[in-house]
This record gives sequence, structure tokens and C-alpha cells, in this order.
Amino acid sequence: MTEKTELAGKIVLVTGASRGIGYAAALQAARRGAHVIAVARTVAGLEALDDEIQKFGGSTTLVPLDLRDGDAIDRLGAAIFERWGHLDGLIANAGQLGVLNPVAHIKPDDFDKIFAVNVTANYRLIRSLDALLRAAENGRAVFISSSSARSKRPFWGLYAASKAALDALVKSYAGELASTTVRVNAFYPGAVRTAMRAKAMPGEDPQTLPTPDDIAPALIDLLNPSLDEQGRVYNVETGVFEEI
Ligand SMILES: NC(=O)c1ccc[n+]([C@@H]2O[C@H](COP(=O)([O-])OP(=O)(O)OC[C@H]3O[C@@H](n4cnc5c(N)ncnc54)[C@H](OP(=O)(O)O)[C@@H]3O)[C@@H](O)[C@H]2O)c1
Repeated sequence: MTEKTELAGKIVLVTGASRGIGYAAALQAARRGAHVIAVARTVAGLEALDDEIQKFGGSTTLVPLDLRDGDAIDRLGAAIFERWGHLDGLIANAGQLGVLNPVAHIKPDDFDKIFAVNVTANYRLIRSLDALLRAAENGRAVFISSSSARSKRPFWGLYAASKAALDALVKSYAGELASTTVRVNAFYPGAVRTAMRAKAMPGEDPQTLPTPDDIAPALIDLLNPSLDEQGRVYNVETGVFEEI
């Protein structure tokens, strides 16, 4: 069934699993034997993922959820505790681009919405899932950020600031887990052929970009129990771990 089976029997939660990078990551984790808890708002996307995973004998739990609902994230943590008592892997991937505008022109609602998904939701996931990751034999958490956090390009301020905030959260959280078996890192996927990238770069030929399936193996490698990196970022563009 699978080439690698190091995630056999593991419980892995993937946010933003209805399309794009999260969908491919969920598929890859299932191919390696994990039971995937798939979170997103779009039920049709989650069901398509479930169909694809079932075809090779894998299993999922589908969780239609708006990640801006912090109480729902708390309920999700409680449900995972009730059913499994621990969480082996978290791929915190869901994110939004927002508007590409001069900072002075960003509307307050747009600013709040992007920070709610890209930053606050990830804090709420940490708050809800921390004890479950610690309860696992080798808990692994990966937060999908972006090299935009470093670029500070004009018009990308909203997205860049949200990803820089996420990087800071990841770095601090990883430090807090230094003496545990949990490993926490960020992941910069580079430019990937998804709906978000098409929105950001409408003039670009998508065929020139790697697909989510191309990068998913490198992402899921960060869930490996043997991984020792802590509080760093794996950058697909350079192919190595870097300081956040
Ligand atoms: N593609 C790139 O070139 C690129 C580059 C650097 C970083 N990234 C990062 O990679 C991650 C995935 O991006 P992508 O390109 O795959 O984007 P995408 O195709 O737009 O997918 C985004 C995913 O996030 C989910 N999501 C968004 N808002 C949500 C909410 N409020 N509640 C629950 N789920 C939500 C979406 O699901 P629903 O809409 O169904 O809820 C969808 O599954 C993002 O964090 C992005 O910033 C992407």
C-alpha cells in the first residue's frame, strides 16, 4: 500500500485539508499509514479527500470547521482526547492570503480576518492540542508559514506580518518544549500550484510551479519520529533547515 510506513497507527491532524497543500499533505500522511483528522470548511473537499484515502485502505475523520471559531477548536481537542488520548502529528496548514494592498489601504476587517486564520487559529490549536502532543510518544507539529515573513515586500504587508507572527509563535513554543519529546518546526513551501498562489500571481503560468503533491513528502517527513530539529524552518526553496 505505501512506500513508507513510519506513520502506521499514528493520529495526524491536518488543517486546510480541503484543497491545495493541506489536501496533498493529508493524502501523504495517510499513504504512510496515519489516521488523518482532516479540518477545513469545505465539506466537498474533505469528502473528496476521504474518497481518495479510502481507495488505498486508509482512514480519516472529517471535521468541517471554521478555524476562526476558537471554542470549536477547544471542542476538537476534547474530542481527540476522548477518542485517542493523544495526538502524534499536527500539520497546521490552513491560511489565507488576504488582500495585496498598501498597508495604509488595508481595511480593518480584512486585517482582523487574516490574523484570525493565520495567527490566532494557530495559537488556539496550540492551546487546545499541546497536552495531546505531549501525551504522544513523539509528538510532532509543523506550521506552514512562508518566506514572505522575511521578504517584507510592498503590498504583501498583511500576509507577511501574519506569517512573521506565526514564525515567532512557533519559535517560542518550540523553546518551551525543548525538554520534551515533542518537536515543533515551521515549513516554507516556496511557490506551489494552488488557488492561493493563483490569486497572488494571476499572470503566472501555473504549469511552471511544483504541485502540492511534489512538496508533500518533504512536509510529512517533518512528522517522522526520528526528526530531531526543534524551532527551525524547513525551506523547500533551499532544501535545508534554517533558523527562523
Ligand atoms: N501556495 C503557495 O505558493 C504558498 C506559498 C507559501 C506559503 N503557503 C501557505 O501554505 C498554506 C496552504 O496554502 P495553499 O496554497 O494550499 O492555499 P489554498 O489552496 O487556498 O488552501 C487553503 C486551505 O486553508 C483552508 N482554510 C482557509 N481559511 C480557513 C478557515 N477559516 N477555517 C478552516 N480552514 C480554512 C482552506 O479550506 P476551506 O476554504 O475549505 O475552509 C483550504 O483547505 C497556507 O498557510 C499558505 O499561506 C502557500
